[in-house]
Amino acid sequence: MCGIVGYIGYREAYPIIIKGLQRLEYRGYDSAGIALYDGENIKLSKTKGKVVDLQKRSKEEITLNGHLGIGHTRWATHGVPNDLNSHPHYSNSEELVIIHNGIIENYASLKKELQSKGYVFKSDTDTEVLINLIEYVQKNENVKLGKAVRLALTQVVGAYAIAVFDKKKPNEIIAARMGSPLAIGVGEDRKEFFIASDASPFIEYTNNAIYLEDGEIAVIRIGKKIKLRKIADDTLIVPFIQELELNLEQIEKGGYDHFMLKEIYEQPNAITDTYRGRMLVNEGIIRMAGIDNHLERFLNADRIIIVACGTSWHAGLVAEYVFESLVRIPVEVEYASEFRYRNPVISSKDVVIAISQSGETADTRAAIQLAKQNGAFVFGVCNVVGSTISRESDAGAYTHAGPEIGVASTKAFTTQITVLTLMALKLAKAKGSISNEEYHLHLQELELIPAKVAEALASDENIKAIAAIYKDSPNFLYLGRGFNFPVALEGALKLKEISYIHAEGYPAAEMKHGPIALIDEKMPIVVIATKKGHYEKVVSNIEEIRARKGKIIAVVTKGDVDVREIADHVIEVPDTLELLSPLLTTIPLQLLSYHIAVMRKCNVDQPRNLAKSVTVE
Ligand code: G6P
Repeated sequence: MCGIVGYIGYREAYPIIIKGLQRLEYRGYDSAGIALYDGENIKLSKTKGKVVDLQKRSKEEITLNGHLGIGHTRWATHGVPNDLNSHPHYSNSEELVIIHNGIIENYASLKKELQSKGYVFKSDTDTEVLINLIEYVQKNENVKLGKAVRLALTQVVGAYAIAVFDKKKPNEIIAARMGSPLAIGVGEDRKEFFIASDASPFIEYTNNAIYLEDGEIAVIRIGKKIKLRKIADDTLIVPFIQELELNLEQIEKGGYDHFMLKEIYEQPNAITDTYRGRMLVNEGIIRMAGIDNHLERFLNADRIIIVACGTSWHAGLVAEYVFESLVRIPVEVEYASEFRYRNPVISSKDVVIAISQSGETADTRAAIQLAKQNGAFVFGVCNVVGSTISRESDAGAYTHAGPEIGVASTKAFTTQITVLTLMALKLAKAKGSISNEEYHLHLQELELIPAKVAEALASDENIKAIAAIYKDSPNFLYLGRGFNFPVALEGALKLKEISYIHAEGYPAAEMKHGPIALIDEKMPIVVIATKKGHYEKVVSNIEEIRARKGKIIAVVTKGDVDVREIADHVIEVPDTLELLSPLLTTIPLQLLSYHIAVMRKCNVDQPRNLAKSVTVE
């Protein structure tokens, strides 16, 4: 939620900040702003809308020079998206300026206190309260900016990644983090520094980065070593400079119209990258250090609890089917947001698997904390290397999907399923709950999945034609059974997210208990009807839909003839093992929602009201 960028150094800050904000727009895009220091004054420009709107506006209202600056792209929490509530925010003296990603929960009481001391507020934001609190501490206690920020933050309850500068001290930026991510790019010879919510804004300038941990504050000064301290007690910390693996190509569109389409098409490679080096098919070995080092924990677990949100939760549901069928350990899949607040029964014999593309989702993080407090072992499945969840877990496995920028998750989902399947196969082998023959068969088949995903992608034109027919339907129903029930949920979520069409996913057999009442000749129903797994039953469901004149779009196994006769449209996917079929059946559903959204002229990569990384509750 919200992206922040800061620069201090010898280059012009404006283009770096604008480009950086564009790369971070996936985090929020309802308003944007920038503050630059031109050697004498702070110049501030902000607006409701996207970074392009900010570009237009800033060119009209401020001069764009300066070697120090901060910028923000917002996903509103406190205060509607408008010009005033956009960041950066000034303090009352207009000497300090701040950008903030997060929520200050006790802002109302702090605001009252500051008002009683004469402070006035122009916006409805919690952030303006924080910058004035910093100013109050700075003046009242007569301390330097770094200390003022630290002391102010000790009074704050909530989440934040902030960057602050003072026009009287234009050689430094103060950055701090609690709950929201923050990376500092360290330029050559410390002649320049970058601050950002992730490393993408500075990847072409440096690949040396420091990731702040929760509760840390950094004083960043040109030519000096970064001073890192604990906010709570002021102890000095030695910063760890990490070398980044990210490259520029990975975060650009590479000829595709949208990041989402690029990421859909990247799936054959992404899945290969997920199992590369881990799965040795000929030797029959799966190497996963996170499991090897904790094998007993997994094998002695009473149950596995999977916690996640959004699409990652759907990957968790697929994993439930996969783990229970292969490993024979009971699995529960929980929305992290529910789990954290419902006083769940957790014991030290539970293994909790937290799934998160970003590794930053606030609810998933809180679920992990709770699990750890109760002695459970936490295994993180994340995409973003070095993300908070990957660091807070006891062990884990990365998906290695590469950066996912489209807000609607695609390759993260299929690579999460791939990692979770590898884990289940490895554990099943160690436990002896799978025969040798079955084990090898699954490995061989998993190796073929990338090529089969590529084959599924080749149905794109057929899917586009179907999209053109149904793009104006107000409702869609998605049905699937067994391993493909979560795929139906995910297909419906994709459509909702990017095309704003109401869609529901259901287990096919449950249709009779409600959704069937919705079916008429106008209702498109996407049915996953692949050969393996409940095929006949799903075919009966299709007949029931047909009898009520619903429009049937069926995802079938290549060569299927029976469903072709009764469905209005079929989309073929290659044959595979039932357990691996979600990796293929998901593909046409991603493409269908993509084309419908494009035809409806929706902003595919940045759907309204959503954000990619939800770092607030
Ligand atoms: C947001 C995103 C979804 C994502 C969910 C969980 O809602 O828009 O695409 O599935 O968060 O995010 P995570 O990073 O934890 O997988």
